[in-house]
Amino acid sequence: MRIGILGTGVVGQTIGGKLVSLGHDVKLGSRTATNEKAAKWVDQQRSRASQGTFADAASFGEIVFNCTSGMVSLEALKAAGAANLAGKVLVDVSNPLDFSHGMPPTLSVCNSDSIGEQIQRTFPDAKVVKTLNTINTAVMVDPSLVPGDHDVFVGGNDADAKLRVTELLRSFGWRTIIDLGDISSARGTEMLLPIWLRLMGTFKGPTFNFHIARG
Ligand SMILES: NC(=O)c1ccc[n+]([C@@H]2O[C@H](COP(=O)([O-])OP(=O)(O)OC[C@H]3O[C@@H](n4cnc5c(N)ncnc54)[C@H](OP(=O)(O)O)[C@@H]3O)[C@@H](O)[C@H]2O)c1
Repeated sequence: MRIGILGTGVVGQTIGGKLVSLGHDVKLGSRTATNEKAAKWVDQQRSRASQGTFADAASFGEIVFNCTSGMVSLEALKAAGAANLAGKVLVDVSNPLDFSHGMPPTLSVCNSDSIGEQIQRTFPDAKVVKTLNTINTAVMVDPSLVPGDHDVFVGGNDADAKLRVTELLRSFGWRTIIDLGDISSARGTEMLLPIWLRLMGTFKGPTFNFHIARG
């Protein structure tokens, strides 16, 4: 499959590398067509990898990943272009972390709205699926780094889009994929970040995940 990734940070590079290793063709998108981090990533992949602008990556992908900070995601997606996103599955892994007031970061949106919903409202023709934002990027693409059962959440308005994302997640190695319902479920998964950050401090590292036990 052709997949476009918006974001040249560790998350975009890691998800992109995993997708290439699974045999997908991946274009990493940036504000500039010649971003140095993206160029280095392309060199590391050997084949199936390319780079371009946000718009290049969005028009290339049959599925598009948003791997930018929630603080700038709408800006990045506007640069990607609504027409390039229309009708496509848009996987949103972002978090609304605002570092401008120091540490720990605050949430730039919460309670009655979320980045996932803002993206869906701004791009009504895209099929937004929120997932993976509650998981460290190394664990996202290799759940076996955390032993035992643990969970990834999906939320979105389009059932077929969630099925396609679920298939991709299974190819990453995920077994327990919990469908939380429509895109307003992104409020809950984004609001998990303060406890996620606190756990990272407690455990002195990011290699952990949530597991929901049911009676
Ligand atoms: N780190 C993790 O383990 C983890 C886990 C779960 C979720 N997440 C979420 O994943 C997302 C990506 O995180 P990251 O650390 O890989 O990347 P990041 O540093 O948050 O974002 C990098 C991307 O943002 C773009 N960008 C920066 N300012 C911009 C602006 N004003 N307008 C448009 N685009 C702009 C950059 O463009 P250029 O390419 O042009 O520089 C770059 O592609 C975040 O929302 C994060 O919360 C991270």
